[in-house]
Amino acid sequence: MGILEVKGVNKRFGGLQALGDVNLSVKQNTVHAIIGPNGAGKSTLLNCLVGKLMPDSGSVMFDGQSVLGRKPHEINQMGISRVFQTPEIFADLSVLENVMIPCFARRDGAFRLHAYETVGSERDIRGQAEHMLEDVNMADKRHMHAGSLSRGDKRRLEMAMCLVQEPKLLLLDEPTAGMARADTNNTIDLLKEIKAKRDITMCIIEHDMHVVFSLAERITVLAQGTPLVEETPENIKGHPKVREAYLGEAQV
Ligand SMILES: Nc1ncnc2c1ncn2[C@@H]1O[C@H](COP(=O)(O)OP(=O)(O)OP(=O)(O)O)[C@@H](O)[C@H]1O
Ligand SMILES: [Mg+2]
Repeated sequence: MGILEVKGVNKRFGGLQALGDVNLSVKQNTVHAIIGPNGAGKSTLLNCLVGKLMPDSGSVMFDGQSVLGRKPHEINQMGISRVFQTPEIFADLSVLENVMIPCFARRDGAFRLHAYETVGSERDIRGQAEHMLEDVNMADKRHMHAGSLSRGDKRRLEMAMCLVQEPKLLLLDEPTAGMARADTNNTIDLLKEIKAKRDITMCIIEHDMHVVFSLAERITVLAQGTPLVEETPENIKGHPKVREAYLGEAQV
């Protein structure tokens, strides 16, 4: 059993079958990549895992509990965080404030659960956020406006905003999209460091095969909403199903 178990998930948008009978099992403490051409349904699948979309049928179990029907913030509190395809940061706030926001959300969520117990003062939260920024090598940028950061740093900030919540599962939708090679390599190193330091499972959607082969232990190939193959990186190179996914027809 994986920490994430997706079974028979279907999602239609009008006449378009965006996901067709998707099964996916992600093992705890692994990095699992989902690859496939544009429009394959990768982001739609992620949206179904975090409560942004409701599948038409199927089940999504995380850590033994169903995520379906739960609100995005409830799923977040279960331990799933997501880095979006387009970074979702607060451009007019400082880098530090951006990282403090999820801490407040987490504290206030917990506050509602345990009415008389506060989980962290503002000073603790500031310390936690500063520590997180050190972990992602952004401590020197903590007073900058988030909107003025480079694309690579915005991604890094978004990762810090996710990681400060100490997720069990981190979902990354094209974390290196539009980055120069040096920034991409920094991101790979950062994700490796995070993986080495924490008990964390990562599910990463990527078009850049250099990133996929540097990080992934398992790879699922998605085409037209359906997984074609799940394999180790060694076994997936030159696999006919990968060519099928990218060319739209069987090449065997
Ligand atoms: N909200 C929506 N309404 C209608 N169609 C949608 C919606 N979201 C996605 N789609 C369609 O569903 C299909 C899958 O889209 P999705 O964004 O999941 O693909 P993707 O694999 O993430 O692609 P990319 O690699 O370009 O990010 C596409 O044909 C897309 O146009
Ligand atoms: Mg996408």
